[in-house]
Parts: sequence; C-alpha cells; structure tokens
Amino acid sequence: MRLGHFYDRVTSLGYGGDYNPEQWGADVHAEDTGLMREAGVNLVTLGIFSWARTEPAPGTYDFTWLDGHMDRLAEAGVAVSLATMTASPPPWLTRLHPEILPVLEDGTRLYPGSRQHWCPSSPVYRRHAVRLTERLATRYGTHPALALWHIGNEYGCHISRHCHCEVSAAAFRAWLRTRYGTVEALDEAWSTDFWSQRYGTFEEVHTPRTAPSFRNPAQQLDYWRFSSDELLACCLAEKEVLTRVTPDVPVTTNFVPVAKTLDLFAWAPHLDVVAYDSYPDPHDPDALQRTAFSYDVMRGLKGGRPWLLLEQAPGAVNWRERNGRKPPGRMRLDSWQAVAHGADSVLFFQWRQSRGGAEKFHSAMVPHGGRATRIFREVAELGAELAGHPELLGAAPERADAALLLDWPSWWALELDAHPSADLRLLDAALAHHKPLYDASVACDVVPVDAELTGYRLLLVPNLYSVTNETAQRLGAYVRQGGTLVMSYFSGITDEHDRVHLGGYPAPFRELLGLRVEEFDPRPDGTWAEEVHLEGAEPVTSFPGGGPAVTRHPYGEGTAWYLATRPPPEEMRDLVDRVRAECGVSPTLPDLPEGVQARTRVTASGTRVHVVLDPQNLSVTLRKTPPRPP
Ligand code: GLA
Repeated sequence: MRLGHFYDRVTSLGYGGDYNPEQWGADVHAEDTGLMREAGVNLVTLGIFSWARTEPAPGTYDFTWLDGHMDRLAEAGVAVSLATMTASPPPWLTRLHPEILPVLEDGTRLYPGSRQHWCPSSPVYRRHAVRLTERLATRYGTHPALALWHIGNEYGCHISRHCHCEVSAAAFRAWLRTRYGTVEALDEAWSTDFWSQRYGTFEEVHTPRTAPSFRNPAQQLDYWRFSSDELLACCLAEKEVLTRVTPDVPVTTNFVPVAKTLDLFAWAPHLDVVAYDSYPDPHDPDALQRTAFSYDVMRGLKGGRPWLLLEQAPGAVNWRERNGRKPPGRMRLDSWQAVAHGADSVLFFQWRQSRGGAEKFHSAMVPHGGRATRIFREVAELGAELAGHPELLGAAPERADAALLLDWPSWWALELDAHPSADLRLLDAALAHHKPLYDASVACDVVPVDAELTGYRLLLVPNLYSVTNETAQRLGAYVRQGGTLVMSYFSGITDEHDRVHLGGYPAPFRELLGLRVEEFDPRPDGTWAEEVHLEGAEPVTSFPGGGPAVTRHPYGEGTAWYLATRPPPEEMRDLVDRVRAECGVSPTLPDLPEGVQARTRVTASGTRVHVVLDPQNLSVTLRKTPPRPP
C-alpha cells in the first residue's frame, strides 16, 4: 500500500502549505526554515509552478535550486509533497508549439501569460509533461523528504477545462468511436433525427462549438464526459511514469472546491489519496455548511477514507469581488472542521505571501508583515495544537447513518439548456438537502450511484435528473429492503443519453414513489411545482392551488418520499426532521447546543474522538468516548 510511505514520513496531522521558495532569496530561505519549525510545519507542497525554472529550455534541466530546498527541508524534518510542475507550461513551450494553447467554444485561442494554458488533448503538452515528470521521479524518487507526488494542480480549474481546437475535435471523435462503435449507434444515442443532425461518418462530428441555437444535448453531455476523461488521461499519463519509477510513493492531485467539471467519482479510484482545496468565503453565512458538504464529498470519493486538505487560506483570498479577512479564531475553526470531516492534513495556500505576481494580496501563513502578525501567531498556535493529536492521523471518519447521492453525469445533464427552468442547479439542490442534516449536527456521507447502500437508514436523492434503469432498480431495492429515500423534483427524467424515459414521469421511479408526474410548472419567482397524480403514495403537503407537493409511499420494508417542490428552508428542515425521526437518524452527539457541530473519528485503538465546533463562539473542543461495543 503506497500510502504507507506517506505515513512513514508524516507522523502527525500534516501541517504546512504550498511552498514557493523560487520567489525568494537565500536570506528568506534561512528564515523560512526557522519559521516553519516555529509554526510546527511538517509537510509542504513544492514546485507547483516551477516548470519554467526547472526546464528553462527544451530538454535542459536545472535541478540545483530544487536539490537545495529538498535537502534543507529533509534536514528540518519537513516532508514534501512534490509537484510534477505541469500545471503551467513555460513560455518556450507555447512559443515553439502555439498549437497547445486551448481554444474556447467560439474559436478564441487563449494566450499564455497566466496559467493552465494547455489543451487537455494535446499530445505535445502531454509528451513534455511526462518527460519532466520522469526526470523529477528519477531525481527525487528516493529523496528522504519525498512523501507524496502532487500531479498537476487543480485540473479543470480555469476556462481551459474544455478545449475546442482541431486536436480536441479529433480526440473527441476517437472517444466517441470507442463509446459507440458505429456512427449509427451515435446517431441513435444523440437523437440526431431531430433538427437534421444525422451524421454519416464520425468525421462530421465536432465538439459542441458556438452555434445559432440550442446545441444537441447528448453531444454536450458526452463532451462533458470526454473533457473530464481527457483531463484524467493527462493526470494518468504522469501517474504511469511516477508509479513505474517510484512504485512506493503515493500520488494525488488537488481537487477544486466541489465543481461540476470533473467526475470525481471516476477520478478518485486512480489516486492513492484524495486531496482538496477549500476556500470558504468568511462573509458567507452558509460557508461552514457548504464546506461541510464539500468535505463530505471528499470523504465519499474513497468510500469514507481520510483525505488531505492541501489548500485553504489563512485569511483573505484575492479572487472575489471583495475579499474579507478571516477574523481571529476562524482559521482554527475552519482547520478543525476539515479534520472533523476526515482530513489528515491542514495545508494552506501558501507558506509565504508573494511579493509580486497576481496573488500578492492572497493571505499566507507568513504575511507580508512577517512573524510579528496576528496570522502568523495563529498559524504557530494551530501548528502546536494539531501536533498534539497524532492519534487523529489516519483515524477513520465514523460512517454516517444518512447519505446523499451525487452523480456528475446527471449534474451535467440537469444543467443543460432548453429545460423547463433555468433555475435547476444541482449544487443548490444538494446543499438544500444537506443543510437540515448539517444544522442538526447529523453526519452525512456523499455516495455515488453504484455505492453499497446497505446500512444507510436515510438516503437523500436531490434532482437525479438523468438515471439508468439499473440505478433506478438499485434505489428501489434499497427501499424495499427497509431504507428511507427522499427524492426531489425533476428526477428520473432521462437516460444516460438524455433521452426521456417514456410512460409518465418519472418512469423509472413511478412504482417506487407511488405516483406519476404529468406536467412541470416552474414559476416566475423561481419556485418549482409539478402536477402529481397519486398511485399509492399519500399526500403529506399540498400546493396552495391544490395537488400533492410532498408525498410519502411505504414500499416493501421501507419508505419513499417525493418532493414535487423546492420547499423554503424552514419547511425543508421540518420535513427532514420528520423523516429522520421516522427512520431513526440522530445527531452525532445527543447534547449539542443549537448551532454546535460535532463529527467523529475513530482512532486505531477504537477510541471515538468527537471534534466539537462552535461557529458562534469560534471555539473547538475535543471529546473522547470509549470504543463502541461490537
Ligand atoms: C488555487 C490554486 C493555488 C492558488 C489558490 C488561491 O487553489 O491551486 O495555486 O491560486 O487557488 O486561492
């Protein structure tokens, strides 16, 4: 198990940040070593944007600068998550090969000058990225500082996540050939008899570029799948080299705050550990819940295993309209929230605040003001505190009784254009379902459509618009065997090619839910309504003008609830509280005051450590209880 290598080198919760020493001189490096010791830093991510410095000309490498930092960090007892440096190609590469620059759907080619300016399908980019990766793996594979490989950086985080150049179009066609075999099968899947789109050969197919009106939805959906796969292929090309040259060193890549771009359930199995970057807005009153949800997703990606927080901001970011600072104590609360939800590390962007460049107003562990700052003081205090809890490293996050189903392809399909309403947003729906659990301090796992559902008392299914018959049958079996399911509006509408399941909405769930939906009726004020005909379900609430809005249907040993509406938050809370009471899903601890959160990790010796977070008072306490009786 490659992860063992990481835990050999990082022996208490990982603490540190992105380290960019190439932006500084030797005097600062010496100071860094001392300040890292003072702050309790034991893990840094090195080299994320260092391609231009490390390979200053094609095939010419300069590792001397990096050798020094690796040795210095090893001596200081700081482990390194070493980046493959491939997120941002050097200027010479785009000068020699401008064809690697990504193209937007309207044909605009993006320029270099920021970062992530490469086409995911470009064989030239991949060849150069893999070549550099191999050199790094060969040089540092046995270095005592090396704990982990950090592949790329935040795949898909900018508009370059999709590319429409000719190389991408050819790659898309190849991907479609593999998926469909024949162009007739593609025509069938894409419903191309609509609007005279029937293709005679794969050569006629393009990426969905800017067009006069709505583009083919199945084409768009496949293009989302393809784009996620292409980025994954870039990551896997580097992983292949790393695992060949350094078979014992684990690999990861850091995911962007829960985003639509990548099908993370498809990505996660390829990584040794899931890693995440979290940037809650301190001025957003729902920030902690949103963050809790994203942490629940990260934990869910590998079936409940611990994950790494590789970036967060110690204070303000620099990329919102207004970038509020974190008040005293907030950084500590945010950090413990991550640990509570399963993180084995608390890392920041970045170690030292840059003097120049686009992120100089982004906070860092060592601010422009240096050591004598509030942020550094809090950083050092937190480092000492986290170091005092080595038992939490690797401690298993306790499995929740409730789960929420998330599916990226359905998310992509739900938000395509030309739908009954433009207000259908999966993340909003997921957060609205998660919030009543969060507010009551009820733990919630996030699971994929093929998850093992046995053991969950409650399953929330927000807007599962696109669903295969197989998934529908699995959800039916879950309820028949005693589960409680809460499904919301506009679910079970189309198949994996965005073709409607015929026979009355939501055809694959009619029997399970005991109802039929005849029409959708979204309102100008953004509310959602459906005309529901009961076929065994009982009405729980009704729309003001009549007709069931929420229904309940005993099915087999379990119960299926349906929300033909998007209830306001108070009604959603009452409803979820009622469902919870029925199926016996309780808060993580029985005696928590209003607004206080607790999540539990179970140490190697079986002790349950409850991390109790009080957002109101920005306080964090740990409670320990003995192992649960078997
Ligand atoms: C992302 C990137 C970092 C940095 C931060 C700033 O997470 O990975 O390089 O740009 O955003 O918030």
